[in-house]
Amino acid sequence: MSEPLSIAVLGCGSRGRTYSRILATLPSRYRLTAAVDPVEARREAVGGLSADESILRFESDEAFFAAGKLADVLIIATQDSQHFGHAMAALELGYDLLLEKPAAENLERCEEIDRRARELGRRIALCFVLRYTPFYSTVKQVIDSGRLGKIISIRTHEGVEPFHQAHSFVRGHWSKAEGSTPMIVAKCSHDADLLCWLGGAPLASISSHGDRSWFRVENAPPGAPKRCTDGCPVASTCLYDAHHYLAGKRRWLGMVMDGWEQADDATILDFLRTSPWGRCVYHCDNDVVDHQVLACELSNGVTATHTMTAFDCGRAIEIYGTQAALKGGEPYKEAGAPELWLRHHATGAIEPVEISRPSDSGYAGHGGGDHGLIDALDSLFRGESALPPGLDGLAGHRLAFQAEKARVSRQRVTAQPI
Ligand SMILES: NC(=O)c1ccc[n+]([C@@H]2O[C@H](COP(=O)([O-])OP(=O)(O)OC[C@H]3O[C@@H](n4cnc5c(N)ncnc54)[C@H](O)[C@@H]3O)[C@@H](O)[C@H]2O)c1
Repeated sequence: MSEPLSIAVLGCGSRGRTYSRILATLPSRYRLTAAVDPVEARREAVGGLSADESILRFESDEAFFAAGKLADVLIIATQDSQHFGHAMAALELGYDLLLEKPAAENLERCEEIDRRARELGRRIALCFVLRYTPFYSTVKQVIDSGRLGKIISIRTHEGVEPFHQAHSFVRGHWSKAEGSTPMIVAKCSHDADLLCWLGGAPLASISSHGDRSWFRVENAPPGAPKRCTDGCPVASTCLYDAHHYLAGKRRWLGMVMDGWEQADDATILDFLRTSPWGRCVYHCDNDVVDHQVLACELSNGVTATHTMTAFDCGRAIEIYGTQAALKGGEPYKEAGAPELWLRHHATGAIEPVEISRPSDSGYAGHGGGDHGLIDALDSLFRGESALPPGLDGLAGHRLAFQAEKARVSRQRVTAQPI
């Protein structure tokens, strides 16, 4: 049996910890060697995953990079605007990368990372966890089986969910495009990747429309204060009241509040009084959209549309082939339909498609994609099916960044042939 793949983790926040915890359950295949984060509790949450204290801890990226190459693969799970600098430094040191999406805050930088990785012969996998879910891997298998005939067009949909929109894109880390990325990149680079991966080709041209229609000051209820903790007259009926963090929405604190699991209500209230997550959603400094639609043509002639909206919940997909259409996703399942099914054009027959899921309850994050990605890691980086050098998933990033260019310019954007 080969040696475990050694892995260092740069950024031990929500994503870095999630991947590290899964890695630590597979010691015969993976060995964590280093944890890097300026916040001690986060660093220790990863560093402490090995009982024998063998995981090195670094307080700064400078100290980590100065120590030389400490693993086969580096997971980069810092914030969006840090990815470029961290990825370029790591490539020079000889690391292959598991890089959180988005690869960088603009397309030029994503392409620069790709170019440098090719020059140096390094592999980069983006954390497109949806590809590794039982649901989307089954969709891909159905397409590849030829049962749909020739694929003519694809329709995808992502309902972000109102509280999630508020938590991440109104109050949270991705509420302003400056310093992170436009929302279509931050939230839907997964969907953009799926369109190219399932559609079988990169983007040829795209149009897009969208806006920040609801989360703005003119929609604030009369008398709503700047913070929910300052006594809001509509608190009891507001979907976004920050006091929901004390009850049904408590788990969302796990992504933004250190020590949230042990915190009592008084400590959480203090956090809400001072942090961005206690602000009234109509009185924030957010500038990203809350809905956007994309209409695309891929270079093989497949057409595709994608809708992102704050005001629905879950992803759905429809793929229209010459022999059959494949439809499914969370909104269908919620309404009592099969999660994935085929409609055969010849007979009109509906055929449910089975999705096989591991019984392991740890297979939960991102519909199983977090676990699926880590499970695939050693084959992505070594062996016969290893990735070629370069940034895998660049086509999806191109599509998402071009969508934003089309939305802002109100012009159809034609992609450069690759
Ligand atoms: N693949 C997905 O589905 C998915 C889901 C959510 C977030 N993300 C992406 O993952 C990334 C991380 O998101 P998150 O929610 O874990 O954020 P986070 O803020 O919880 O984690 C980032 C961590 O980086 C640390 N950090 C800051 N500066 C650092 C430095 N110089 N060196 C090392 N560590 C440093 C922070 O202390 C923090 O712990 C983001 O780019 C985000 O867009 C991807």
